Amino acid sequence: MSFFQFLMIILFSSLFIHFSQSDVGTASHYGPPFLPTECFGGGGSQFPSTNMFGSAGEGIWDNGAACGRLYEVRCISAAVPRTCIPGQTVLIKIVDRARSSVSRPSKDDTSMVLSTTAFEVIANVSSPLINIEFQLV
Ligand SMILES: *[C@@H]1O[C@H](CO)[C@@H](O)[C@H](O)[C@H]1NC(C)=O
Repeated sequence: MSFFQFLMIILFSSLFIHFSQSDVGTASHYGPPFLPTECFGGGGSQFPSTNMFGSAGEGIWDNGAACGRLYEVRCISAAVPRTCIPGQTVLIKIVDRARSSVSRPSKDDTSMVLSTTAFEVIANVSSPLINIEFQLV
């Protein structure tokens, strides 16, 4: 292998590693009541004051390790055209587990469920389900 080939392999694998950090999945939304949560019990002090939070689907719940993790989320598409707000991303904190949240998601079994406030930033909230790209921050 030449040095140039070696360099190209390094370059392409770093590109691959970069892209593999973000995942594609689905998101629904939920409103109050939010307490108690499986992450923090009855304590609401862990909630961001901006209301930019969400609950974790089983795929990212990670046995509770997801609590407190931050995700950057972008709307890709939805059943109804023009549901996504172009160019918008939202940063959310995981505060609960979707499967057991007090208030039920607009759709079950999604990758994550966003608070209405967070969902509104990236999509039309009249849609119960959107396709998303999300990345652990
Ligand atoms: C959101 O979607 C609904 C139903 O499709 C539509 O009536 C409404 O105008 C949309 N809102 C915005 C801000 O685009």
